[in-house]
Order: sequence, then structure tokens, then C-alpha cells
Amino acid sequence: VDNHINKPIGIFDSGLGGLTVFEEITKLLPNESIIYVGDTARVPYGTKSKSVVIKFSLQIIRFLIKKNVKMIIVACNTASSYALDECKKIFSVPIIGVIDSGIKCALLKTKNKKIGVIGTEATIKSQIYPKLIKQKDKSIKIYSQACPLFVPIIEEGWFDISHRKIINLVAEEYLSPLKKFRIDTLILGCTHYPIIRDIIYDIMGKNVEIISSAKTVAKETKYILEQKKLITTSIANPRYTFYVTDDSNKFISLAKRFIIGKNVILPTKNNTKVIDIEKY
Ligand code: DGL
Repeated sequence: VDNHINKPIGIFDSGLGGLTVFEEITKLLPNESIIYVGDTARVPYGTKSKSVVIKFSLQIIRFLIKKNVKMIIVACNTASSYALDECKKIFSVPIIGVIDSGIKCALLKTKNKKIGVIGTEATIKSQIYPKLIKQKDKSIKIYSQACPLFVPIIEEGWFDISHRKIINLVAEEYLSPLKKFRIDTLILGCTHYPIIRDIIYDIMGKNVEIISSAKTVAKETKYILEQKKLITTSIANPRYTFYVTDDSNKFISLAKRFIIGKNVILPTKNNTKVIDIEKY
């Protein structure tokens, strides 16, 4: 019996951000088992060079393939910007990133054709968003802004009400130039940012549509599994396993605040393991 359809889906990010994608996938594909890797020892990726991000991504993909995944989602914009093409060349397992989905969504929403993109230094430096958007519609104006302090602040857990002042100040600084350009659509080009979506919304105002790619990525995942006839037939409870590359305590305690849905299984001591990713 061919049971490859019951293999897990692999998802990875530099840390917690990919959990925003994980959550949407569990909602849309509730029977699928998932292996999640958060490279917590080496987060952030967004300040690192292309060759380093490629090396890290390849190690994680090799690990996921050893774990027998049937598909891989690069739930990190930085790794998608720098490493997706490279990874697709090397491995035969279907691999998708998070950038195309966000772009697709933004192009559907914008009316004045002025789109803002925020992301890590690496993602913005790669120019991947303007490049891919221009390929689809030359008339769009794109305004990019790197927000390098967002990821460390979020990984520190400082996105709660008691740290509002700090994150507000930082967000104001990054976002006010974008406001001047009168964009009507803002792509959250980093999977960590949906967690501070309301702060960004408050600053940008209600006339700016805020796009995160998580939901669209989940839809694309479903589409690809259907196309390749890889949708699970298992009716047993799906298995979720989380792997981190540094001590799991902080990941477990912060993950609760990333996954907001009520029925989603959270990382706990029992389903979260520490791995040495350098071995792969
Ligand atoms: N979630 C990653 C991204 O989407 C975070 C990047 C980082 O680790 O700096 O880019």
C-alpha cells in the first residue's frame, strides 16, 4: 500500500514567525500531520547574508526530508527571498515560499496601485518584491521599508500591552515614511509581523489594506497537495511535532501567543524537541 500521502508536511522559519502559517494550514488541512522547524539558535535570518541563509535553509530542508515530509513550506520571507530558488533546484519534493502568495493578494486589493512592503533587511535588500510585482504589473509603484528591529522585539515577546510604548515608537519610526506615499496596500513581508498587525493597522490607518500571506499560503499548499494527489486519507488525529535548535522553553511559552486559534494544538514539552541542525 502506498502511504506516502500520509506523510507529514514540513514547515520552517527562523523562529516563531512561521507559526502564523502553521496555524492557517492546520485550519485548512486539519487532517494533515505537520513537522515544524524553528531555527531558534540562529534567529534572526533577516540580518544575515544570502550565502548564510541558503546554508541554513538547506540544512533544515535536509533534516525535513530525513523526516520524510511530502512537501515543504518555507514560512519565512527571508529564506524565501534568498534561498527558495536554490532549494527548488536541489530537491525534488515540492517546496513553496511565502512571497508569491502575498503578492497575489496585494495585487487583488490595491486600487491606487501604490503598494508598500515591509520586511527584514535581507528581504528588502533582495528586491524580490518589486521584481516579482513588476513582472505581473508594470504600472504598480512599490515602496519598501526594512524594519530590522521588529523580529528581535517579537522574539523577545514584547508585543503585549505592557510593551506597547516601545513597539509603537519603533513602528512609528519605520512606518511614517510609507504613510507619506499614500499607499493603499501594505504587504507584511515577514511571517513575524502578523503578530503586531493591530499596531501596524493603528499607525497606517483604516484606508490601508494590510496583507499577510499566511491564509493564501495555506490555500496554495492545499492546491498543490490536491494536484499531486498527496492529500492525506488518514482519519486518525494528525501529529504535530516541533523542532527547535536552541532550548525549547522560550519557544513553547511564546508560541501560545502566536497561535491565536482556539482549537490549534500548541507546542508543549511533549511535542517539542531540540535538534542539532549543524549536523545536516
Ligand atoms: N519570519 C522571518 C521572515 O519572514 C523572520 C526573519 C528573521 O529571522 O529575521 O523573514
